[in-house]
Amino acid sequence: MTRPKILITRPWPKPAEDDLRQRYDVTVNDGAPLDKAALIAAMHDYDALASTVTDKLDAEVFATPNPRVKMIGNFGVGFEHIDVKAAKAAGIRVSNTPDVLTDATADIALLLMLMTSRRAGEGERQVREGRWGGWGTTHLMGQSLQGKTLGLIGFGRIGQATAHRAHVALGMKIAYHNRRRLDAEIEGPFGATYIETVEDLLRTADVVSLHCPATAETRHLINAERLRLMKPSAILINTARGSVVNEGELAQALKANVIAAAGLDVYEAEPKVHPDLLGLENAVLLPHLGSATVETRVKMGLRVCANIDRFFAGEPLIDPIA
Ligand code: 8YV
Repeated sequence: MTRPKILITRPWPKPAEDDLRQRYDVTVNDGAPLDKAALIAAMHDYDALASTVTDKLDAEVFATPNPRVKMIGNFGVGFEHIDVKAAKAAGIRVSNTPDVLTDATADIALLLMLMTSRRAGEGERQVREGRWGGWGTTHLMGQSLQGKTLGLIGFGRIGQATAHRAHVALGMKIAYHNRRRLDAEIEGPFGATYIETVEDLLRTADVVSLHCPATAETRHLINAERLRLMKPSAILINTARGSVVNEGELAQALKANVIAAAGLDVYEAEPKVHPDLLGLENAVLLPHLGSATVETRVKMGLRVCANIDRFFAGEPLIDPIA
């Protein structure tokens, strides 16, 4: 029996690729990310795609007549780059990789909180550029996070893992806003306070960390007006998706010290970063590293494999999104 043909659209860590190769006829694209024409061609050449965040799988891709692809296993938990409705309409199943990247992403949120509050980027630049004049009593004083309030917008898996770290390791108080209030068993360990509106959360928090999905409703949730509600000492952290923040308005707010600092791992038009952010000392800018550990990326690949296996065995997907 011929093995199903699968395209991995961007290379995976070897152990995960090797796992898939054991059971399928696997092709790996190790060139540039696929453009629309290449994605449409792939829809006709393969039985399944192992896609990722750089693949814009929109309605036009799914509208291609008689696609051979019947299953898309996305490497990553976020899936705003996939038109799930169009996939469903085309009868194509789609899965993602929740759980396995929760800790790694929460680690990056904490890293950004520490880097911004302790001015680590500024300090690093001073050392490397030979601008450090030596130890000083008031040199690069930052802010302590102990006893401050972390306000999370979105309190799902990654929001909770971030709250856990901030509460246990840094002694922060936890407040959150979410589409719905969570059960007492979830709030309890953090002593988390539910705040009904985004506006009140922004007024309350010393650090605001974004953990909501990218949807039409959350697009530019953080804009000039909302930034003005934050404390002048406040820090904004974004490890969710770039579209949640109006990057140009954030840059203006950082420049005018409307808020103290921002730590970003994601951007509106990756890999482009708003030029006004690049020169700001009070912005820490990481290149979408949320899940970038060897352990996590292997687990993500294996989770795609597990979903693809389920599909070809005619069993329910582990992580169905369409
Ligand atoms: C992924 C992420 O590594 O899973 C996600 O949604 O944001 C990242 O951590 C990246 O998007 C690749 O899918």
